[in-house]
Amino acid sequence: MLKREKAQQIYDRAMKVMSKGVSSNFRYWGPTTTPVVARGKGAKVWDADGNEFIDYRLGWGPMILGHADERVNQAVHAAIEDGTIFAACTELEVIVAEKICNMVPGMEMLRFASTGTEATMHSLRVARAYTGREKFIKFEGQYHGMHDYALFSTASSNLKSLGARRSPVAVQVGSGIPKGIRDYVITLPFNDSEAVERVVKERYWEIAAIMVEPALGNSAGLEAEPGFLAHLRKVCDEYGIVLIFDEVKTGFRLANGGAREAYGVISDISAYAKSLGNGYPVAVFGGRREIMELIGPGSVAHAGTYGGNALSMAAANAVLDILAASPVLANLAKRGQRLKSGLSEILSDADLPHQMTGHPNMPGFLITEEKVTDYRGMAHHNDEVYNAILFHMYEHGVWAEIDAREPWFLCEAHDESLIDETLNRFQDAVKAVKANYPHASGGGNQA
Ligand SMILES: Cc1ncc(COP(=O)(O)O)c(C=O)c1O
Repeated sequence: MLKREKAQQIYDRAMKVMSKGVSSNFRYWGPTTTPVVARGKGAKVWDADGNEFIDYRLGWGPMILGHADERVNQAVHAAIEDGTIFAACTELEVIVAEKICNMVPGMEMLRFASTGTEATMHSLRVARAYTGREKFIKFEGQYHGMHDYALFSTASSNLKSLGARRSPVAVQVGSGIPKGIRDYVITLPFNDSEAVERVVKERYWEIAAIMVEPALGNSAGLEAEPGFLAHLRKVCDEYGIVLIFDEVKTGFRLANGGAREAYGVISDISAYAKSLGNGYPVAVFGGRREIMELIGPGSVAHAGTYGGNALSMAAANAVLDILAASPVLANLAKRGQRLKSGLSEILSDADLPHQMTGHPNMPGFLITEEKVTDYRGMAHHNDEVYNAILFHMYEHGVWAEIDAREPWFLCEAHDESLIDETLNRFQDAVKAVKANYPHASGGGNQA
């Protein structure tokens, strides 16, 4: 058991003044277990009671270089000396925009925002403006942030509520979303080219965009089957639909050019956030000039008080320089692959049927006997055993999300020795859990 005294004292106070004592629903574990973190450095975090963890959550992705990176912090410190927000353009914004356009294939023009939610919301608006159509396709198990339009059939949605595969039901995430919004969203299973083709053929005249996470950053990092993203590109070209990549998790993580580079498919518009700022709040949406040029006063609305602020721009500028100067992400992929292979070997040795998922820089795994290619397939996964393994690791100082929907995130600071240590702890955890579940197999969620 981890020591938990100070954390509980702080959290008891939190519950009195913050809803559920947290700033995001996803951070809530329960009244006596919700973690309280004190600090992070590199690939490690320490909680309020001084328990130390190798961190594979990394704030759910942003810390691509590691916590409290000195190069980024120095750049931020220097920038804030001259003020942070001016309600005006600054040269630093232009410099960062130029660097992104150079780094990301097909990126011609962009706008800055502060969060991934804003970036996907504005991507959708400009796609609607460009096409004069109002609906969009999103895929089940994908999360595009907290705006109403996207809060349907995410990875928070009950697997048994999604309807028939041929005629999926768009499931609202919680209360408070106007009923009418559902009319604007068409949800489909990921990796189902036939479904996309069928729906687009029937309804292309009302579909502005297909919005897709190129790898399911909120459903075990599941990657597109070969040809799926290219097929989306083809269908969008054929029917005048805007292809939007939600690269909030994949951007500046899978490769310098994100999923566009890693998978060789160029969307019309992409949304970025997380890794671009290494923990500072910065987001971008952009892509084809012809579409992005529509944004402007009296034409297509976009604004944000904090968009392009000096603190975020300085952080992004530093991150982009580091990524451009050294093969951070290629090195990450080597260590990520080693981690993936090591985890898989340990699971095989323990006779636990599994599927390794995700790009090496954002990997995951499922306890399953059947191949999983979309969110519906997560029904084949054994949550109970996965969560028990990950909880055992957490209690022994390795913290990846205790939920297979969230992939593991690697950063530059995860060196070989931390990977070794992780694998050792994983082996212990699998052994301990296997003793409690001697006949564990996949299929835990299939009732
Ligand atoms: C794929 C994806 N899109 C959008 C978002 C929303 O980003 P933010 O939390 O910065 O609003 C997230 C957040 O996790 C995400 O994973």
